[in-house]
Amino acid sequence: MTFCSAFLLYLAATLPSAFVISNSNMWTKLILTQHWPSSFCSMEHCHPNISYWTLHGLWPDKGINCNSSWHFNSSQIEDLLPDMEKNWPDLVDPASTRFWKYEWHKHGTCAAKAESLNSQHKYFSKALELYHKLDLDSVLRKFNIIPSEEYYKFSQIEVVIENFYGVKAKIQCIHPSKNADAQILGQIEICFSPDFTLQDCEKGRDLDDVMAVDRASGLSVCDHDMPVYYPPLT
Ligand SMILES: *[C@@H]1O[C@H](CO)[C@@H](O)[C@H](O)[C@H]1NC(C)=O
Ligand SMILES: *[C@@H]1O[C@H](CO)[C@@H](O)[C@H](O)[C@H]1NC(C)=O
Ligand SMILES: *[C@@H]1O[C@H](CO)[C@@H](O)[C@H](O)[C@H]1NC(C)=O
Repeated sequence: MTFCSAFLLYLAATLPSAFVISNSNMWTKLILTQHWPSSFCSMEHCHPNISYWTLHGLWPDKGINCNSSWHFNSSQIEDLLPDMEKNWPDLVDPASTRFWKYEWHKHGTCAAKAESLNSQHKYFSKALELYHKLDLDSVLRKFNIIPSEEYYKFSQIEVVIENFYGVKAKIQCIHPSKNADAQILGQIEICFSPDFTLQDCEKGRDLDDVMAVDRASGLSVCDHDMPVYYPPLT
């Protein structure tokens, strides 16, 4: 065997596996996460003045803090700022860009591995686009899921979301305290495939990073059998 053909054989043997390795680092799903300001503020001690679902983030299912040298720069998303301020507010500190910077570093730099999201402008504008497309707040209202002092059954909320969008969402509540008679609706995750079509949230793999975020935040998947409190602004 000549060196040349041996080398070609070597290439043939190694290239496919190299391809698989780099592919396995790529995310396969995007999670658009929205939170309910009153519930968020009950955990974070802020003063909610917003009564619609706001963006928490757009999270790939793989990777966290993928490129620490890619700094957040708000002048690259200047045209988006009015939309961001209204629909992706930092509920703790509304005047700062801290929340966006955090989401960019933690999740945006990983989402940016895909060409469709490989700039700050692409990432933030896509998140806003998906948020508007879902229009979750209107969908819930339309089907009479409105903030109320009366509790809902979990299935009432779940059915509206899953019937309307045709996919399984991940609906999260604040961990109920001992002896509580209801859990508090906190956050709703709706998932997309890499081409931005709706996808079930349970499908896919490697959600460990995202689940770590959940645990830290005091949220978990709502209990099917416990009443749900969807808190109005107080
Ligand atoms: C909520 O309050 C902040 C200041 O604390 C203000 O910037 C923002 O416009 C208010 N939002 C609404 C919807 O009233
Ligand atoms: C990280 O971001 C910097 C700044 O945008 C860029 O030059 C670099 O290529 C990125 N690194 C990787 C591994 O994507
Ligand atoms: C931020 O982005 C703007 C517009 O692209 C650019 O002019 C500026 O140099 C950037 N600032 C930093 C610190 O990279």
